[in-house]
Amino acid sequence: MARGPNPLILLGLASVSFIAFATIVRKREQSAPASLRFQDPPPPEDKPQHTSAVFDHTKVTVLFVLGGPGAGKGTQCANLVSDFGFCHLSAGDLLRAEQHREGSQFGELIQTCIKEGTIVPMEVTVKLLENAMRAALQEGRTREGWAEGRGRFLIDGFPRKMDQAMKFDDDVCQASMVLFFSTTEEVMLERLLERGKTSGREDDNVESIKKRFTTYKETTMPVIKHYEALGKVAEIDSSPSVEEVHLKAKAVVEKILADKK
Ligand code: C5P
Ligand code: MG
Repeated sequence: MARGPNPLILLGLASVSFIAFATIVRKREQSAPASLRFQDPPPPEDKPQHTSAVFDHTKVTVLFVLGGPGAGKGTQCANLVSDFGFCHLSAGDLLRAEQHREGSQFGELIQTCIKEGTIVPMEVTVKLLENAMRAALQEGRTREGWAEGRGRFLIDGFPRKMDQAMKFDDDVCQASMVLFFSTTEEVMLERLLERGKTSGREDDNVESIKKRFTTYKETTMPVIKHYEALGKVAEIDSSPSVEEVHLKAKAVVEKILADKK
């Protein structure tokens, strides 16, 4: 009689594949510095005295911007940039730029994660954000909120996973608040499919969108809950029109910036 494969052999094969995969991922992570042009730490006077973070959260305001894919984060960030002079950094955009950067050793890894709607290993994303923040602070911006080593950032689509949140708050800059744009999956799906007609994005298709929704529910919602428990979440219903959502978001940010003064 025909018998199925021996379960012990199957288990063995699965373990070997897992160990090989984990080793590849770890090697890539360990080699992150060269490819992402890791820079020297900032001079001591730039470093906050009370934490080990790179940027001082009393001078540098970071607002995380979260919400499901298609919730309108990017659109609303653009409005808030013109209202308040924020520097808008989209984690997804930075990853796509790194994916296409010639010589990047993370191109393939990023492409796979984006297509599958999974989260890129956090070291890559956190380092891209840190480098972009440093560049913006060194630019000598002149708008309100940027004098004497101060700065204001909207970090869009980040942190999508608890490890990203912890690493960023501890090592880069403690975030002041999370702007949480919430709406239904139906609204998000409709917006993403509409955007997909012209975005050229590899993940604006029904198959990838479903995976992104799953990652959002399973991996990103716990991050929002974490900040909620700290009293750091401002939820904004993003179902209405762009302008209506903008007015609400503007009022929320006005208050956050006033409280911080
Ligand atoms: O925010 P956006 O939809 O542009 O992100 C696209 C993809 O980039 C995500 O689905 C995910 O694969 C990756 N990403 C990530 N970590 C983040 C932001 C985006 O891994 N914090
Ligand atoms: Mg976006």
